[in-house]
Amino acid sequence: MGIFGVKMNPLVIAPSVLSADFARLAEDCKSVEVAGADWLHVDVMDGHFVPNLTIGPVVVESLRKATGMFLDCHLMVTDPLEYGKRIAAAGADLVSFHLEAVMDPGAVIDGLRACGVKVGMVINPGRHPEELFPYLERLDLVLVMSIWAGFGGQKFMDAAPGRIEILANEISRRNLSTRLEVDGGVNAITSRLVREAGADTLVAGTAVFGSADRAKAIADLRA
Ligand code: DX5
Ligand code: ZN
Repeated sequence: MGIFGVKMNPLVIAPSVLSADFARLAEDCKSVEVAGADWLHVDVMDGHFVPNLTIGPVVVESLRKATGMFLDCHLMVTDPLEYGKRIAAAGADLVSFHLEAVMDPGAVIDGLRACGVKVGMVINPGRHPEELFPYLERLDLVLVMSIWAGFGGQKFMDAAPGRIEILANEISRRNLSTRLEVDGGVNAITSRLVREAGADTLVAGTAVFGSADRAKAIADLRA
């Protein structure tokens, strides 16, 4: 229990493999597991919803064989139900999709759940956090982007903590255990800001994989 008797999820650190060396993916994943990471964050991009191409079901399948870690798959694709099913079948533990990508979020939530995965929804900086309120009960996680989705290594947006706080307050007001994740420019300094705002799940690409001492980088995110 946290302050005021509100339930709190344990903090999860999820390094984003987008910043890993793709020629040494299994080794890099092992290194962050040993360094104390909780989940692996896997960025799936289709070159259409965002102007970048990254990982698809084939790589997720190989990752699944290479590690027992929880695979948190962030879909930046225009058809998250179609690709989400394939990512789920490849061995994802959680599939999250962008609110901006779909007409009927409820149908996507149901379709992904039917695949046996946990489900999350994501908002880019252009959307109001309140737009996720209707779905909170049905989600395992909500993800607030602190950059525009598409590329690693971008600068954290100062508006993010305020947006996180709006969702944190609503989640605790309803006494839900929905996780609150943040992604983009999270480092030792900004992690403090987003945790104070109520985030319990931190994605970090550059800050972890770009560090010579990954155990220290992860410890700094928790500090
Ligand atoms: C970008 C991805 C992020 C990215 C974060 O669209 O969603 O997960 O890897 O990278 P950093 O931590 O470097 O901002
Ligand atoms: Zn991501």
